[in-house]
Amino acid sequence: MSKVYVFDHPLIQHKLTYIRDKNTGTKEFRELVDEVATLMAFEITRDMPVEDIEIETPVTKATTKVLSGKKLAIVPILRAGIGMVDGVLKLIPAAKVGHVGLYRDPETLKPVEYYVKLPADVEEREFIVVDPMLATGGSAVEAINSLKTRGAKNIKFMCLIAAPEGVEAIQQSHPDVDIYIAALDERLNDHGYIIPGLGDAGDRLFGTK
Ligand code: PRP
Ligand code: URA
Repeated sequence: MSKVYVFDHPLIQHKLTYIRDKNTGTKEFRELVDEVATLMAFEITRDMPVEDIEIETPVTKATTKVLSGKKLAIVPILRAGIGMVDGVLKLIPAAKVGHVGLYRDPETLKPVEYYVKLPADVEEREFIVVDPMLATGGSAVEAINSLKTRGAKNIKFMCLIAAPEGVEAIQQSHPDVDIYIAALDERLNDHGYIIPGLGDAGDRLFGTK
């Protein structure tokens, strides 16, 4: 069963409040999403493997740790996931970036895939799929399906706000994929929007309607 980690760090919660606020404009919304993505990346990388190396400090030889070169890739679900990529890359600048293009049909709420491009060596990489919203879970489940079909074996899912329905959908379809969220909200409304949520993440990030 997937584990669910809720990052209730005060800085994340503070910034999330202003992300949710309908009076926050596009520029500030984008900056806040970027900042929260960086803070979440710090937490999500807590279990990255390290190895010992020998170095010399100005005063002595020492054995210290470096990351052991695990191949990482970030995969935003287009389009709103793009808003989280730079924030993660600030901490993991050497990560590759794949893309999965999906939109949710407003009538059926089912995901429609229109683009997939992943880095090489899919089987050896650790993937972090990012999307601000996990609502019905249809988009996340489909994006993870896409990665697995192409050989991905090691996948984490990271989002800002999740509904219980979305968490359950990932747990049912992909019990091997752990879920990292900044807030677990109450429920979905009749249109599949998260309550209280933040509205339409893509529209708020890109200033569209
Ligand atoms: C939003 C969001 C997720 C999806 C979540 O994208 O960014 O990808 O909805 O909903 P679900 O869990 O019910 O699938 P949207 O379809 O609005 O596309 P966009 O990112 O292009 O705006
Ligand atoms: N997608 C969004 O952008 N917001 C929601 O609340 C649900 C799906």
